[in-house]
Amino acid sequence: MKPDTRLVHAGRDPERNFGIVNPPVYRASTILYSTVAEFEKRAERKYTGCSYGLYGTPTTLALAEAVAEMSGGFRSVITSSGLSAVTQALTAFLRHGDHLLLPDAAYGPTRAFGENVLARFGVDVTFYDPLIGSGIADLVRQNTRVVYVESPGSHTFEVQDVPAIAHAAHARGAIVVMDNTWATPLLFRAFEHGVDVEVQAGTKYLAGHSDLLIGTITARDEALFRTVKDGTTAFGDGVAPDVCYETLRGMRTLAVRLRHHERSALDIARWLAGRPEVARVLHPAFPDHPGHALWKRDYLGSSSLFGVLLRTSSDAAVTAMLEGCRLFKIGASFGGFESLILPSRPGENRTATPWRETGLLLRLHVGLEAVEDLIADLEDGFTRLNAVFGKGQA
Ligand SMILES: Cc1ncc(COP(=O)(O)O)c(C=O)c1O
Repeated sequence: MKPDTRLVHAGRDPERNFGIVNPPVYRASTILYSTVAEFEKRAERKYTGCSYGLYGTPTTLALAEAVAEMSGGFRSVITSSGLSAVTQALTAFLRHGDHLLLPDAAYGPTRAFGENVLARFGVDVTFYDPLIGSGIADLVRQNTRVVYVESPGSHTFEVQDVPAIAHAAHARGAIVVMDNTWATPLLFRAFEHGVDVEVQAGTKYLAGHSDLLIGTITARDEALFRTVKDGTTAFGDGVAPDVCYETLRGMRTLAVRLRHHERSALDIARWLAGRPEVARVLHPAFPDHPGHALWKRDYLGSSSLFGVLLRTSSDAAVTAMLEGCRLFKIGASFGGFESLILPSRPGENRTATPWRETGLLLRLHVGLEAVEDLIADLEDGFTRLNAVFGKGQA
């Protein structure tokens, strides 16, 4: 079946729910057992069924089943946020004395978790150039347990050579954990490119409506899945069934929304590339973009999120531009129906590959509004920017 069809049907079982189309919201902490023998066997149930509310209800399981089906993985675990999916995917596999490789362009809080938390618990963390490709083999050590990838980079959009990185990691017995939030499994088939554990901030495209937080961790096989499930259980992370229900509802329209996001984002990126105020557009589908050839080889499309490097370095000019926008609102997320924009400062967050650009970087999430209206909003924004700084030549 095609992905669109799978998304419509995954995780549903009307026959078991009085013919109701959507899996209902089951609310539970306590789950009852009819015999002592069943109760004594409850530990095994946490992997596949319902044993206690914290470990999942039929609503959680319906979402997990749909996510795993979309990803082509063995099974999924649902977590309370995208960041908790990242941190729990890492802690499930890492222990004191292990080495972790993190890309320099990773989502800021992921980076901070490595630097501030994992390091405190005795995990050795090395940041690497996201464009390193097979060169990562030189950084993989005897004790490297996890090679983490996030492609494209959260603010700078470098596309990683995931198959080459996975090859080098596996050769030394390490596993590959990937944050696949930008592409979703619809646009990047992580498991087909060597990834072992896929993480998504379901908060973004899966949910799609900027009104909830959720994370997903999908494992390639049963052994990896059990390790992940043991890890999330140990931390006591749980998700309300209502949030799972809303995420599953969002997923039904994911394919349609992503196609719209892609088209509109490309239209706007091309328009921006022609503006005198813009030095460069950072979009994986642009031929001059670092990693464009890899994107063409491995990805099935692009999503809503990209960057624009301005010629100006004036904070005042950019503030005038952003604060006056009617449609592009200032907000640090993406994947929702509404457009967002923010000033990004990647230089503050890199150690392996210093950011040398002098112009200011804007990150745009192109929502579902009409492209003409969004362009008009940005055009007015450039008028304000130029009024402060004069034709964007500074
Ligand atoms: C790439 C990426 N991964 C993970 C997260 C974390 O998701 P959440 O906000 O649900 O914790 C984000 C959030 O912005 C993100 O951009």
